[in-house]
Amino acid sequence: MIALIFAHPYPDRSRANRALLAAVRDLDGVAVRSLYERYPDFDIDVAAEQRALAEADTVVWQHPMYWYSTPGLLKHWFEKVLARGWAYGEGGTALHGKRCLWVVTTGAGPSAFRPEGMHGHPMEAFVPPVEQTARFCGMRWEEPLVVHGAHTVGDEALAAAAADYRRRLAALLAEARGGDDE
Ligand SMILES: Cc1cc2nc3c(=O)[nH]c(=O)nc-3n(C[C@H](O)[C@H](O)[C@H](O)COP(=O)(O)O)c2cc1C
Repeated sequence: MIALIFAHPYPDRSRANRALLAAVRDLDGVAVRSLYERYPDFDIDVAAEQRALAEADTVVWQHPMYWYSTPGLLKHWFEKVLARGWAYGEGGTALHGKRCLWVVTTGAGPSAFRPEGMHGHPMEAFVPPVEQTARFCGMRWEEPLVVHGAHTVGDEALAAAAADYRRRLAALLAEARGGDDE
């Protein structure tokens, strides 16, 4: 079972995240939690979120990159849901051993993520805060799925990324079930 935490403030206007989500949301075992639709006032139901995570083998965080990080509501979700005594610290073992997959889209193309590029650093420089959040909670970090140039990437390349996403989630589901899947 995969808890797919989706954080896009304007899902109806999305191109890249919408395509990615459409590729996986019908997989048996994937439960999508669209944070901006559930909590437009940022009043997160912490117990409900924690229940969904506790039931999952894999946690996916999917969102557009905003200011080199997550949209505000996902950051808020980290702060509220990944609580001490539950996700970390004494007795905080709820997420131990679960897999964590980060799925992120960027507006800029790959060439912006270089020392001489618009964003001044390789993409790898922006990974540690999210990766370490997962690791601090005892989760197993998967290779992130990154789609650069969300507005400009060709339809075919976007479809290929979406298919790759589906394959990866299907494989994680199959592994969790201990057998073959699609
Ligand atoms: C507030 C805001 C901050 C953003 N920050 C970044 C950024 O730091 N790096 C980047 O490459 N794109 C940035 N973008 C562009 C988004 O990542 C891009 O619009 C998104 O990935 C497109 O995905 P979608 O088609 O699902 O909406 C930002 C966009 C907004 C609105």
